[in-house]
Order: sequence, then C-alpha cells, then structure tokens
Amino acid sequence: FGWSVYDQESVPSTQQLAHQLAHEGAEEGTVVIAEEQTAGRGRLNRSWHSPKGTGIWMSIILRPSIPLQQAPQLTLLVAVAVAQTIQEITNIVPDIKWPNDILINGKKVAGILTELQADPDQVRAVIVGIGMNVNQKQFPNDIAPIATSLAIETGRTFHRPKIVQTLLQKLEQLYEQYLQHGFLPIKLLWEGYSVTIGQQIVARTLNGAIRGVALGITDSGTLKVQTEDGAVHYIYSADIEIKKQ
Ligand code: BTN
Repeated sequence: FGWSVYDQESVPSTQQLAHQLAHEGAEEGTVVIAEEQTAGRGRLNRSWHSPKGTGIWMSIILRPSIPLQQAPQLTLLVAVAVAQTIQEITNIVPDIKWPNDILINGKKVAGILTELQADPDQVRAVIVGIGMNVNQKQFPNDIAPIATSLAIETGRTFHRPKIVQTLLQKLEQLYEQYLQHGFLPIKLLWEGYSVTIGQQIVARTLNGAIRGVALGITDSGTLKVQTEDGAVHYIYSADIEIKKQ
C-alpha cells in the first residue's frame, strides 16, 4: 500500500477530480489535494467553504472488496483518522458526531464526504473527501456560529503538510487494520470519540425525522435509534441533532 498524491493549486472540487480519476482506473491510494476549491461540496448538496491556503481539502480513492452495505464503515474509519490526527497535532480530543462531523467545543472543525462508485452489490471505488479547517481566523457570517478551525481553538497556526502527513499515516494504519481484522477495532475507537451514543437525538433523513435515543452503531456502521414506542430504527444516512439534556 502506498499513497500517490496529486497536489493542485485550484480546482472546482477535489472530490469531482477524484471521481474522474477513479473512473479512469486510478489505483487505491490515489490522493488529490488542493490549495483552494472554487466549488467545494459537502453532504446533502451543501457547499463547502474552501478558501485558499487555509484548510486541508483532499479526496482519497480506496478500493476495498466489501459489499455495498458496509460502505458506511469507511466514513467512520476516516472520522477516527481525522480525530486521531487532530488529537496528535493539537492535544485537543475532538468529538465525532455520527456519521461524519468532527467537532471541537460543539463547532465543526472537519467534515467527511464518502461517495461510491459501485456495481449492483459490490464497491468498485470509495471516494472519501476530507475538509479540515486549519488556519482560518474567521468564517463567513452564515457559518461562523457553527464552524471553527484548529487556529481558532488553539491560538496557533499550523504547517498543513505536516497535518496531511500525519493524517495519511493514521489512515493507512487504520485501513490496514480494517482489511485484516474487520470493522470491530475501528468501531471501538470511534465510540471513544463519539458524542452521539446514549443521547436523545433527532435524525433527519430523506424520509422524515426520527426522534429517540441513539443506542449505538451496528457492525455495518449504521446508527441504531430507539423511538419512544420502543421500535428500533437503523439509519444509514441522516443529519443528527443532539438534544440538550
Ligand atoms: C460535510 O461535512 O458535509 C462534508 C464536507 C467534505 C468537504 C471536502 S473538502 C475536499 C472534498 N472536496 C469536496 O468538494 N468536498 C470534500
């Protein structure tokens, strides 16, 4: 296993470029990094603010031989790698909000966008986009209340290539562990950073909202939620609001 890194000055979206490279047969371990994205995308068709030279905007191609239902595991794996990297670089232990938000003091410092190229039941490529706010001192008004950066949280500025190097090391380590030993060790690490489990939540899915207690994540990486009537729901993808207790 090895990474081949494509460094770009400015692209519409590293995610879009990585999709294109994966379609053309790019190997597992291909990484696209850009100084700036002019059309960065987040989950649920949101845009992702990606100004020049301040954050880490990257997309990674993986090609695990796993069935489609297990794809959410990769999001959680990458979230653990991002959390471990932030912890090592800043000494702050971040929180993970299922499935993909990395938070410090309740504000989002990084997000992960996992997308697939797949046959009917088998994954061909997983394109994992990672956006990490590093040296921003401030954010546009619309996201200022919910966004933060490593610089804002620590009062320091960071050398981004060092963070990228640490992140790729952690990712490689966790991915190899995953291929050899399966999801369980990753799940345990993820639970250590989780702020979702055990909380009263509202999960907003494409099919409506589900209110209940987040019981845990399953072996495939879905979120298990129990509603008041006692029914248990398994959620593949949603936006989670954690209710204050
Ligand atoms: C989210 O939290 O909604 C996911 C954000 C993912 C942003 C990253 S930045 C690099 C890659 N390229 C994109 O256009 N998006 C992802």
